[in-house]
Amino acid sequence: MTQTGMAGQPMINAENVHKSYGNLQVLKGVSLEISRGEVVCLIGPSGSGKTTMLRCMNHLEKIDSGAIFVDGELLGYRREKTFLREMRDKDVCRQRADIGMVFQHFNLFPHMTVLQNIIEAPTGVRSVKASVAKDRARELLDRVGLAEKASAYPRQLSGGQQQRVAIARALAMNPKVMLFDEPTSALDPELVGDVLNVMRDLAEQGMTMVVVTHEMGFARDVADRVAFFEAGEIRELGTPADVFGNAKSPRTREFLRRVVA
Ligand SMILES: Nc1ncnc2c1ncn2[C@@H]1O[C@H](COP(=O)(O)OP(=O)(O)OP(=O)(O)O)[C@@H](O)[C@H]1O
Ligand SMILES: [Mg+2]
Repeated sequence: MTQTGMAGQPMINAENVHKSYGNLQVLKGVSLEISRGEVVCLIGPSGSGKTTMLRCMNHLEKIDSGAIFVDGELLGYRREKTFLREMRDKDVCRQRADIGMVFQHFNLFPHMTVLQNIIEAPTGVRSVKASVAKDRARELLDRVGLAEKASAYPRQLSGGQQQRVAIARALAMNPKVMLFDEPTSALDPELVGDVLNVMRDLAEQGMTMVVVTHEMGFARDVADRVAFFEAGEIRELGTPADVFGNAKSPRTREFLRRVVA
């Protein structure tokens, strides 16, 4: 993506995004503007379209209509006079490299050490020299509290440690944005805190983050804004205090009553 992004323009701008799978309309016109350094949590019932929205923000899913801009650049398409043409794979990859994504299941390469997992993309996609990538990887491992695990294999790590490696791996590409899809929901409860702390640090350091989560405490403490999804639409969007304390729709209030202990 261009390095010339203007400070004033949003980091992510989703405009009226529609997405269907066959007859099933999953996103029914979602608009969401996210500023630089902002943390936005997506919450809402199962099947409401949160993951789909996140995948669209990384062009892992093609949208049917609307547009998503990341740092001012249209995602997945280029304008040709009056119409949009799909980007070539190479260009999609280039855009995607700027957008870090961390999934519920960590998807580390099992046959590679932690360090190899982290340097894989920078040395491959970005042609960073191995020695430089390794130094940076060690720095990132230190940041996620796993300096001593560089030569371990994923199977030798706990779920929470693997998830922190996955975060380090995403950060190794110096992304402009980090997208998280329920990064702690597959973890044993005692491992959740360390992962959330890494995410908290990242937020404090000014990373732009979109986080699908059921961790309402995290959303309340860390999010600048919370978006409540229901049936493919954002029903509520505001500060945690607004959404948690003062939700307008009865459906949101009911959802929050159930999930907030
Ligand atoms: N690849 C797909 N093909 C067909 N339908 C899909 C596909 N992916 C998602 N869906 C459907 O789209 C709807 C929204 O799914 P999505 O995964 O975005 O929900 P979600 O809000 O993330 O839910 P959860 O909280 O359970 O993760 C669901 O009805 C789901 O079954
Ligand atoms: Mg989901």
